[in-house]
Amino acid sequence: MAPDQGIFEESQQNVRKSKSASPATGVLVREGIELPGGAATDLSRTFWDDLYSSASFTDSVPIPVIKAAMEHFGPVAGKTLLELGGGPGTTSLYLGRLGANVINLEQSSKAIDDLNARLERLGISNVRGICGDATDLAQIEPVDFVFGSMILHHLEPFPHFVAQLRRVLKPGGKAFFYENNANSRLLVWLRQHIVGRLWIPKYGDKEEFPLTPDEIDELKKAFTVEVIYPEMLFFRLASSYLLKRHFENFLGKIDEFFFRRRWLLSHSYRQYLLLSA
Ligand SMILES: C[S@@+](CC[C@H](N)C(=O)[O-])C[C@H]1O[C@@H](n2cnc3c(N)ncnc32)[C@H](O)[C@@H]1O
Repeated sequence: MAPDQGIFEESQQNVRKSKSASPATGVLVREGIELPGGAATDLSRTFWDDLYSSASFTDSVPIPVIKAAMEHFGPVAGKTLLELGGGPGTTSLYLGRLGANVINLEQSSKAIDDLNARLERLGISNVRGICGDATDLAQIEPVDFVFGSMILHHLEPFPHFVAQLRRVLKPGGKAFFYENNANSRLLVWLRQHIVGRLWIPKYGDKEEFPLTPDEIDELKKAFTVEVIYPEMLFFRLASSYLLKRHFENFLGKIDEFFFRRRWLLSHSYRQYLLLSA
């Protein structure tokens, strides 16, 4: 399982200066801007570089997530779209096929090198990868849309990131984030005390922490924010983490039961954040 699809992901990261303009994508990159290192750390960067170098790494387009984002954005053809932390860019490529001019800003140089080589091979000019830190968006000219999947919970200091996001979204612009959720005290306690010990697997890097309600409040200071729980993911976590995937179907049915009744839904480990500037 790729860490981004895992439950108790962890991470954070880096980057560098990408100073060239991006005429091909139509997403403008400011010239001559020297980026500071940002919040990214070598530990996190190394973790993701290693993961993306691994022969067993697989990636797929999260269709239901993209569909939900498109419902929020409306037509993207001809618009500028910034993906944050898009790894090797599979989703950026998909969004590019929908006609958007896309930049994937990602800290892993391995992911970005692979993406840009792939774009060149395929002759695609409306998508571009930039190796950089999502907490430093000074190099990016304002865009119509921002998309991110499992990235917000990596970003610190979060208020600084929110200010950057506010600047990079055009007035009337929209952002969509697919995230994990630290609203359940029980899940957070298990994550802190059980996960990564004995036989219990830990996915993701050592620095990330699920998105907290306080961080959502921070977003609400700068944007109109709607939170949607697209599924109940709670009891199934016991199967993934504690029970070596036994009883997955049974626990999944309990999740579905809670989802249908909207019980404890704000404790689901999955959420969509729909932002309007
Ligand atoms: C959990 S993975 C998600 C990857 C992809 N978006 C997905 O959903 O499959 C987190 C990604 O964010 C990147 N990342 C973490 N911190 C970052 C930062 N500060 N700036 C840019 N990218 C970052 C990691 O390198 C990694 O590719």
